[in-house]
Amino acid sequence: MELTHIEHLGIAVKSIEDSLPYYEGVLGLKCYNIEVVEDQKVKTAFFKVGQTKIELLEPTAEDSTIAKFIEKKGEGIHHIAFAVPNVQEALNEAAAKGVKLIDEKPRRGAEGLNIAFLHPKFTAGVLTELCMEGDK
Ligand code: CO
Repeated sequence: MELTHIEHLGIAVKSIEDSLPYYEGVLGLKCYNIEVVEDQKVKTAFFKVGQTKIELLEPTAEDSTIAKFIEKKGEGIHHIAFAVPNVQEALNEAAAKGVKLIDEKPRRGAEGLNIAFLHPKFTAGVLTELCMEGDK
């Protein structure tokens, strides 16, 4: 599989607002976008560190997967997202190598990215997202 870079790290937080003093005040990053992804039941906040982004994920409903993640594991790193030239091709390759997929086809994520997740049971414990800019 061809990974071009780490596109973002997804970090589960109980509250974006409560996390801003750390990310902006301490680390000196600037939140440049806040976006609600309705079908994922999350509010996202984005920061740039070089070409990699930090994506804070705050649950907007109790049955959100992020709410369940925080309940089980607490706040922290939720997933790593690798940029690939073509998400569908990368999915096909992973499936051919025996990896179970959460998404059989890319779907639209925050920031207009086409995204898909691999099943964490097959990714050495870290939920893995493959993504690329939209319309590719
Ligand atoms: Co993500």
